[in-house]
Amino acid sequence: MEEQKIIFSGIQPSGTITLGNYIGAVRNWPLVSELGFGIFSVVDMHAITVRNTPADLRARTLSTLAVILASGVDPEKNLVFIQSHVPAHAELAWILNCYTMFGELGRMTQFKDKSKQHADNINAGLFTYPTLMAADILLYNTDLVPVGVDQKQHLELARNIAIRFNGIYGDVFKIPEGHIPQLGAKIMSLSSPDKKMSKSDPNPKSYISITEGKDSIIKKFKSAVTDSDNKIEFSDTKPGISNLLTIYSVMTGCTVQEAVSRFDGRGYGEFKLAVGEAVADGLEPLRQKYEYFMQNKDYLEKIYTESADKACRLSYRMLSKVQKKIGFIKK
Ligand code: TYM
Repeated sequence: MEEQKIIFSGIQPSGTITLGNYIGAVRNWPLVSELGFGIFSVVDMHAITVRNTPADLRARTLSTLAVILASGVDPEKNLVFIQSHVPAHAELAWILNCYTMFGELGRMTQFKDKSKQHADNINAGLFTYPTLMAADILLYNTDLVPVGVDQKQHLELARNIAIRFNGIYGDVFKIPEGHIPQLGAKIMSLSSPDKKMSKSDPNPKSYISITEGKDSIIKKFKSAVTDSDNKIEFSDTKPGISNLLTIYSVMTGCTVQEAVSRFDGRGYGEFKLAVGEAVADGLEPLRQKYEYFMQNKDYLEKIYTESADKACRLSYRMLSKVQKKIGFIKK
């Protein structure tokens, strides 16, 4: 029998969950979990690196958890918990901070981007965010980390920290691998297709929320920014159309080539409508499950409480091992 893999991934409750989050990451979580045991976290501690209204953070944490379940992760076989419920994440993050170089963190493009976006709040948490992410992953002997392409640099840093630590103390951490989808690892904004689709984008026309209604989804796709010629092809010079082709292919399960030939000779208007319909119809079952989970808060609480209990036990094993290695006295 093949070895069971441990899969870890996280998502910030920092806004509405977009089609980008779904296609690049969350959609793949139940699929990758088939390879073994999935551990999925709503990473609220990451989300406080930018300012939030407490009531909003609470509401988004719960709705993010509901989205993970609605996307098909089976909580009977996997863990779905809230990061702040498992203290070992913060404890290991502190230790890893002492094995991470200032220069390494300064090179992170997300830090540079977010420092520009939040110039009045460039806090230390924003800077050390990748060490917390490394702790999330390394605590569980993770083999695979299903993420979109924007997390590749953070993942590479997590690997480097683990290799550095193992170089000093022996084989403590397993070195994780990224699991990045071939298609859809970077879904672009609908209004500026040179930027990634992001839940923190102030322009709501730029993203699709995965719990959005059909009419609104179709309207947004109809107004998606493309180019001025009318040829449907996949190319670097046509980022808007290429993005729509990617989205259409993932949501309908065809290849990009099949999508291109399906729309050969047809106009942008017809194509955009078809993409909107494919997305709205593809998301409908998820939306219904999401509504169901949001009306069953007791069930959500049961899942995140039981998962956190198990995650606490698993993570403390690794934390204790690390503490022993570095010379902390066992209490
Ligand atoms: P976050 O919350 O920004 O995004 C969650 C997941 O969605 C992916 N993603 C995208 N994929 C394709 N196209 C897009 N436009 C797009 N936007 C976002 C992200 O790559 C991510 O996989 N730091 C992480 C959360 C995190 C984490 C972890 C992930 C914390 N600890 C440990 C993996 C392992 C983040 O901010 O993701």
